[in-house]
Amino acid sequence: MSYYIHESSYIDEDVLIGDNTKIWYFCHIQKGARIGNNCSMGQNVNVSNNVIIGNNCRIQNNVSIYEGVTLEDDVFCGPSCVFTNDLTPRASFPKGNKNYVKTVVGKGASIGANATIVCGHKLGKYSMIAAGAVVTRDVPDFALVAGVPAEIIGYVNEQGDIVTRL
Ligand SMILES: CC(C)(COP(=O)(O)OP(=O)(O)OC[C@H]1O[C@@H](n2cnc3c(N)ncnc32)[C@H](O)[C@@H]1OP(=O)(O)O)[C@@H](O)C(=O)NCCC(=O)NCCS
Repeated sequence: MSYYIHESSYIDEDVLIGDNTKIWYFCHIQKGARIGNNCSMGQNVNVSNNVIIGNNCRIQNNVSIYEGVTLEDDVFCGPSCVFTNDLTPRASFPKGNKNYVKTVVGKGASIGANATIVCGHKLGKYSMIAAGAVVTRDVPDFALVAGVPAEIIGYVNEQGDIVTRL
């Protein structure tokens, strides 16, 4: 296996990291995480327990991928985008990891900078989430969504070109 981990990053036990994946500065990859080949994690990325990340994913600075989130292949997570895994959190009444609400990010999807993905939804393959959007429902394949709450404003192709504007 040939991957790169910067010395400032921590990798817990029982983690699998694929070939040619690069984990840059101040990252923490937690127990049981599975990361595919050719991925890149920027600065200050956290991958929580048991998270599964496919091949060729690009995760920009300051992203936490919480337990319950799955990234399929070729996913782009823009800087400081936010995942969640509990719809109604309380500090004094933690629900435990068996009750985390799942999120799936489909193959080739892109999440813009500072977007928030409310848990329990699927981002369709090659969907595009605008910067700052708050996703509160499933996103269809190839849809471009923006705003709070996010609405479909167009459609994109596999390369990310906007092919339809609504
Ligand atoms: C959503 C996005 C793809 C739209 O691109 P675009 O269509 O070329 O953008 P335009 O400037 O032509 O804007 C089209 C309209 O969408 C609006 N818009 C653009 N980006 C928006 C956003 N993030 N949220 C809400 N509305 C947005 C514009 O205000 C404009 O509205 P109007 O027609 O009422 O004037 C782009 O703005 C975006 O957010 N990309 C993500 C960038 C990013 O986070 N990259 C991360 C890696 S650095």
